[in-house]
Amino acid sequence: MTHTFTIAIDGPAGAGKGTLARRLADHYRLNLLDTGLTYRAVAHKLLQLGLPLDNVSAAETAARQVDLSKLDRAVLSAHAVGEAASKVAVIPTVRRILVEKQRDFAKTPPGAVLDGRDIGTVVCPDADIKLYVTASAEVRARRRLAEILADIERRDERDMGRADSPLKPAVDAHLLDTSEMAIEAAFLAAMAIIDDVLAKRSGA
Ligand code: DC
Repeated sequence: MTHTFTIAIDGPAGAGKGTLARRLADHYRLNLLDTGLTYRAVAHKLLQLGLPLDNVSAAETAARQVDLSKLDRAVLSAHAVGEAASKVAVIPTVRRILVEKQRDFAKTPPGAVLDGRDIGTVVCPDADIKLYVTASAEVRARRRLAEILADIERRDERDMGRADSPLKPAVDAHLLDTSEMAIEAAFLAAMAIIDDVLAKRSGA
């Protein structure tokens, strides 16, 4: 049997294990598998079919259909898909089906870097190297915030930049900047604008 080299990386979301895994796979010329994408693919399929995430037989079928060579990060990285993935990830038979595929991947020469939650404990208990990558909840939340900010900026750019009906204030719109306002203050400010217009109209 050919020996393959396996690096198992586990840790919570936002610890940086994905980036580390990619860098290490490049450096040591190993295959790379983000096992989170396999759970995300199952969740995405159920969402697409409009099926509940606790539909065990549909989730099993979706898990069997997962093709590790066709995991589309762009589609699967959506926040809602991640939330749904953590729900299908509790189904033991789904885990068994996906773990089987992940083990086959790990055994393919020259070996692989796999990252996830159960790589060192369940998927590849005999891995040559096991890393558990973590960071404080505060630091991970700060990193998440930076990602959310980038998401919001990308979305604004798309909404404002499209040719057909882009987002922009109408020339006669009243500007209401809520940066420093809670919702109640924003409501009062909107009301003040409206009442002012109404007063001017009835006075005219
Ligand atoms: O790492 P991620 O955000 O892509 O993972 C999505 C979900 O999949 C995560 O909430 C838990 C689950 N998961 C798992 O149970 N086991 C793994 N090896 C990888 C991910």
